[in-house]
Amino acid sequence: MGVSLISAARYLPKGSLTNFDLEKMVETSDEWIQQRTGLISRTIAEDETIADMAIKAGTKCLENVAPEIKDKIKILIVTTASYLQVVPHVSSEIVEPLGLNKDILAYDLNAGCTTFIYALNTVERFLTEPGDYALIVSSDKLSDYIDYTDRGTCILFGDGAAATLWGYAQATDYYSINQTITNPEVLYREGKYVHMNGAEIFKFAVGTLPGLIEDVCAKGNVAIEDVDLFLLHQANGRIIESVARKLKIDNEKFPVRYQNIGNTSSPSIPILMTQLMDENILQKAKNIVLAGFGAGLSLGIVLLKGNGQYVVK
Ligand SMILES: CC(C)(COP(=O)(O)OP(=O)(O)OC[C@H]1O[C@@H](n2cnc3c(N)ncnc32)[C@H](O)[C@@H]1OP(=O)(O)O)[C@@H](O)C(=O)NCCC(=O)NCCS
Repeated sequence: MGVSLISAARYLPKGSLTNFDLEKMVETSDEWIQQRTGLISRTIAEDETIADMAIKAGTKCLENVAPEIKDKIKILIVTTASYLQVVPHVSSEIVEPLGLNKDILAYDLNAGCTTFIYALNTVERFLTEPGDYALIVSSDKLSDYIDYTDRGTCILFGDGAAATLWGYAQATDYYSINQTITNPEVLYREGKYVHMNGAEIFKFAVGTLPGLIEDVCAKGNVAIEDVDLFLLHQANGRIIESVARKLKIDNEKFPVRYQNIGNTSSPSIPILMTQLMDENILQKAKNIVLAGFGAGLSLGIVLLKGNGQYVVK
């Protein structure tokens, strides 16, 4: 049995950092950044906190949800890999502002940029019968951790949030593959800043994702050509293009919509889902693959199999 997406919304802060701004801060160029990443600008939260962004995305996600469904949300997971405050946890801060009942299991989860996928794996196990609902709110503010004199990291990351409401669905099936490799050297925080070996992560993602995507499709007995959309962590457009090329699947099925947002870490996949809903693309998809990867190293692939039905309500 599986899950279905009931509602989704994003919140992107108004602040922005363009390639031309970065040209004034480090030795780089708009041309280099666009060629290597596809990025033009990044959304920056400035004074807004992770909780502020989570509340804005969560409120929008729930605004058109029927009260009887909202009342049945029994689990809230906030995914965040960049929380400065540590305690209290963000999820506790947003239960009341979102109007959720207090008899809710609410906690934060961190598995780097893979966190959204691991949260989805968690709620899938929680959604066991009709009428079960779960809310995932993903919010990250990487700009708090970026050294804006390090051209290897400052060009990539942006801030943002997205909320997704999931329900149990008989008409869909759910398959997943996860991997965690102990390798703290490629992406870590030391002192104030995040350090990254971008080329290693690039190799890891392009080297492992195609095979695991094939594996999850085999597990779900779905031919790879029958997958309508591959929603990959929006880390770098070139990684996504390379994975599509290796799988010999048209780029159109591998949407990239982060050019003016940046790599937002855990919200990147749900932000993409909201963009594709705006374009009326996600609603038409029957089989969807979601894939996250990042610090840890961590990796998670999910196949939402529609069994002839759409996986978005
Ligand atoms: C960060 C990233 C864009 C760098 O691109 P790359 O093609 O791998 O570049 P490299 O790090 O190999 O560096 C190539 C050259 O460009 C230079 N360079 C690095 N950043 C630069 C910048 N912003 N502007 C100009 N030159 C830059 C390097 O110093 C290097 O120069 P050299 O050949 O003289 O030594 C890329 O590795 C990437 O996106 N990786 C994935 C990161 C990721 O997904 N992180 C999040 C995981 S959740």
